Amino acid sequence: MNVARSIDDVRRQVREARSDGKAIGLVPTMGNLHEGHLSLIDAAGRGTDFVVVSIFVNPAQFGPGEDYERYPRTPDEDFAACRGRGADLVFAPDVETMYPAEPMTEVAVKGLGSVLCGRSRPAHFAGVCTVVAKLLNIVVPDKAFFGAKDFQQSVILRRMVRDLNVPVEIVVCPTVREADGLAMSSRNAYLSPEHRRQAPALQAALRTGAERIAASHPPVAEVRSAMREHLRGAAPAAEVDYLEIVDPNTLQSVETTDRPVRIALAVRFGTTRLIDNIEVDGRRGES
Ligand code: PAJ
Repeated sequence: MNVARSIDDVRRQVREARSDGKAIGLVPTMGNLHEGHLSLIDAAGRGTDFVVVSIFVNPAQFGPGEDYERYPRTPDEDFAACRGRGADLVFAPDVETMYPAEPMTEVAVKGLGSVLCGRSRPAHFAGVCTVVAKLLNIVVPDKAFFGAKDFQQSVILRRMVRDLNVPVEIVVCPTVREADGLAMSSRNAYLSPEHRRQAPALQAALRTGAERIAASHPPVAEVRSAMREHLRGAAPAAEVDYLEIVDPNTLQSVETTDRPVRIALAVRFGTTRLIDNIEVDGRRGES
């Protein structure tokens, strides 16, 4: 497995693989890889012949006062993990390589980027879309792999690719969790022991909501208050940023729950913000 630092180098290695008839897979990450990221490398290995993992902590998607500076950077461990999971190439550019000049162009998916996480992180999704568009243009993969943990991100990127006719298939893979249900995230390391103890309540609250919808598709307000009550009991330190029941395509709040929905939430434990979500089809039950 090679590590490329420059765009020319990645393009050359991908060109060689493509000329051997290989399908190219891209797994974009910000590094500090855990089993969630590694499951995407596994999926890319199953679905394509030449797996490129990008590792880049993208300054454009962090807001003022967010954790860009302290975001964990562990390149050596990450390279070893990529090698261990059979990745073919790691693209690990520095900021000057990705942003040699202050960009004048930005990619933003209107509407989808201003709800849910976009409300408290207004510039975040434009930063994500812009860097992912750049990575897709650099690597030109056949398939790109993303995690359902960042559900809004996956919906937005699917829409970006569709609107801009980017010739790539977006593959969304299931959320990988710790044994107690907490969705794996690089930010879990910021939690104090007490907050870590309470954090599985996010998934438990989502399941409470999903079970209620599956059982009797009650009014949205009732589901949300049952979930908030669960959080108050199991995670008293959690401050809810949002807790929404939305249409899985438009991300707009739904009026009734007898239909496919996504329940998504974000909470803060001190300065650490965690997100999670669950899919539920109110016509059929939790999926
Ligand atoms: P990062 O947070 O490093 O995540 C990289 C990919 O791993 C994303 O697709 C994310 O959804 C997925 N992922 C993270 N935790 C996961 C888990 N527990 N289970 C399954 N998948 C998980 O998301 C980003 O980076 C950036 O926004 C990026 C897309 C790389 C653009 O900078």
